[in-house]
Amino acid sequence: MTRAVSPVPPSPRGGERRGEGKHLTAFGPGKVILLGEHGVVYGHPALAAAISRGMRAWGVPSDSTSLEIPEGISAAHQEALERAFARAAKQARHPKISVHLESQLPLSMGLGSSGALAVAVSRVLLEAKSGAPAKTKDVEALALEMEKEFHGTPSGVDHTTSARGTMVLFKKGRATEVVAAKPVKVLVAMVGPRSSTKQTVGALRERQKRWPARYRRVFDQIGRLVGEGAAAARTGDLEALGDVMNMNHGLLSALGLSSPQIEDMVYRLRGLGALGAKLTGAGGDGGAVIGLFREPEPTVMKLRAQGVDCFASQLAGPRAL
Ligand code: PMV
Repeated sequence: MTRAVSPVPPSPRGGERRGEGKHLTAFGPGKVILLGEHGVVYGHPALAAAISRGMRAWGVPSDSTSLEIPEGISAAHQEALERAFARAAKQARHPKISVHLESQLPLSMGLGSSGALAVAVSRVLLEAKSGAPAKTKDVEALALEMEKEFHGTPSGVDHTTSARGTMVLFKKGRATEVVAAKPVKVLVAMVGPRSSTKQTVGALRERQKRWPARYRRVFDQIGRLVGEGAAAARTGDLEALGDVMNMNHGLLSALGLSSPQIEDMVYRLRGLGALGAKLTGAGGDGGAVIGLFREPEPTVMKLRAQGVDCFASQLAGPRAL
C-alpha cells in the first residue's frame, strides 16, 4: 500500500495535482522461496512467501522523475538500478516525483531485494501519476519491467510474492494464495556473498542444455515436491513441510547450487531442531539459508550470540494478536 504523507496544499493555479503533489511512501516486502527455486524458471511451480523485512520507497514532489541512488551500492548494482528506474519511469509516463529508497534487506542474498524495490518504486510511481493507490496487477506489471533489467529473464516469483504480500503458489506468472492452517515461521540466516542470480541461473541453463534429460528429471521432482509442500502448509503439517524442504535442498545441491558454507548452515539449523532447512533463492556460493521452526526466536538469539547474521519471520498462518 502507498501512504500519503503530509499532503501539500492545492496548486496556486488551481490545477489538478493528483498524486504528483503528494509525498508518498510504499513498502515492498522481501521474500523467501520455501520450495521450487530454479525449477520455476522452467515453468515448474514454486512456493514463496513475503517476509517482514523489505524495501521502502519515498516519493517527494518534484519537477521531473528522478531516483536518489542509495550510498554504498556497487557500480554494477547502481547501473542496473538506474536502467530499471528509467524503464519504469517511462512506462509510468514520467510522474513528477523524486524517489528515495530505504532498505532493510541485504542486496543480492536471495531475499528478493530487487523484487521488493521494484514493487515499492512501482507503487510510488503509479500513485504519483494517477493520484489513487495502484492496483496490485498494475504494480506487478510495472515491477516486472524493472525486474527484467535486474535479472534478464526472471520467472517473476520475487516481485509477484512481494506485491501480494502473502504465501503464494506461483507458476508461469500466475500466483494463488496459500492459506496455512498453522503459523509457518522460518529463521533466515545469511551465509556470505554470492554471485548474481543472473550468473547462477545462466550457468545452470548451460548445464541443463548440455544434459537436458537428466536435468529435466530433477526439475520434475522439485515441481512435485512443491505441490506436496503447499498441501502440507495448507493442512498445517509442519513436519511434512520440513521434510519436503530437506529433500528440495538435496536436489538443489544435486543441481550444483550449494556450497560448503551453505551446507554448514543447513546442517547447523537441522542440528538446532529445524523441521527442515535449505538454501533459498538462487544459491550458488553463498546467500541465505532458511530453517523451518515452530518458534525460531530462541535459535535466532543463540545464533546471533555466535555471530551469525539472522532473523525470524512468520510467512503464513494465524498470527498472535
Ligand atoms: O534472486 P533470488 O536469489 O531471489 O532468486 C530468484 C529465484 C530463481 O528461481 C533462482 C530465479 C527466478 O527468476 O525465479
